[in-house]
Amino acid sequence: MLAIIGGSGLTTLANLDVSRREVVRTPYGEPSGALVFGQIAGQPAVFLPRHGYGHTIPPHMVNYRANLWALHHHQVQGIISVASVGGIRGDLEPGDIVVPHQIIDYTWGRKSTFFDGVSTPVTHVDFTEPYDASLRERIERAAALLGIDIKVGSVYAATQGPRLETAAEINKLERDGADLVGMTGMPEAVLARELGVPYAAINVVANHAAGRGDSLNGIHFESLEQVLQEAMGRVRSIIEKLVGSPDACRPFGMSV
Ligand code: HPA
Repeated sequence: MLAIIGGSGLTTLANLDVSRREVVRTPYGEPSGALVFGQIAGQPAVFLPRHGYGHTIPPHMVNYRANLWALHHHQVQGIISVASVGGIRGDLEPGDIVVPHQIIDYTWGRKSTFFDGVSTPVTHVDFTEPYDASLRERIERAAALLGIDIKVGSVYAATQGPRLETAAEINKLERDGADLVGMTGMPEAVLARELGVPYAAINVVANHAAGRGDSLNGIHFESLEQVLQEAMGRVRSIIEKLVGSPDACRPFGMSV
């Protein structure tokens, strides 16, 4: 079963044929909401809205450990994380869909490991490639089959939020090599890695990052709401194609 974590613009999955909801209790507290189980294109899937059903949990307050633990507890074979981002790289426009391949983490003070219990041995997971290559390929293939244009390969910068960045901070992120900026990609990705669950992201560019393009003098999300909604429609189609495709039952984490 594949899991989808939805972010801003994707608090429900319209194409999920819901069979049941479950509030999962975890050793780390409450997940963002009940897990919603069902089928997408005839295949089992589970959905979790990262910011809660009322979109009330800000990025730095999300209980990432509880969310990931709950999905792992249900033995999901892979996680697709959907999130909106700001575009830093010059060719990225609002509405673009991007599948990132690398992460730079600027978040702080978040609970970012499962390996911090009193009697837990010190554990260092390999995170050279933060996203699962096979799952990324499957996203790319599903988009190609649908003729949906996506941009592959980019560096995601995870910032603390909930405020947006200054123009100078975006310049710094660009110098660091970042193409996209968002607030929720970490520690989600590393917690999935610690649990051994393949994880990949689909990012939707909601706006030009601060000080860039039409955000030169400020970021105005209101005017971009429609772009985001339309793009999330394309994301839903990609997810439906991916989950429903015959190789959906192939074990994740293996290259094709
Ligand atoms: N910065 C950080 N996170 C974001 C942005 C942004 O510009 N847009 C959407 N999420």
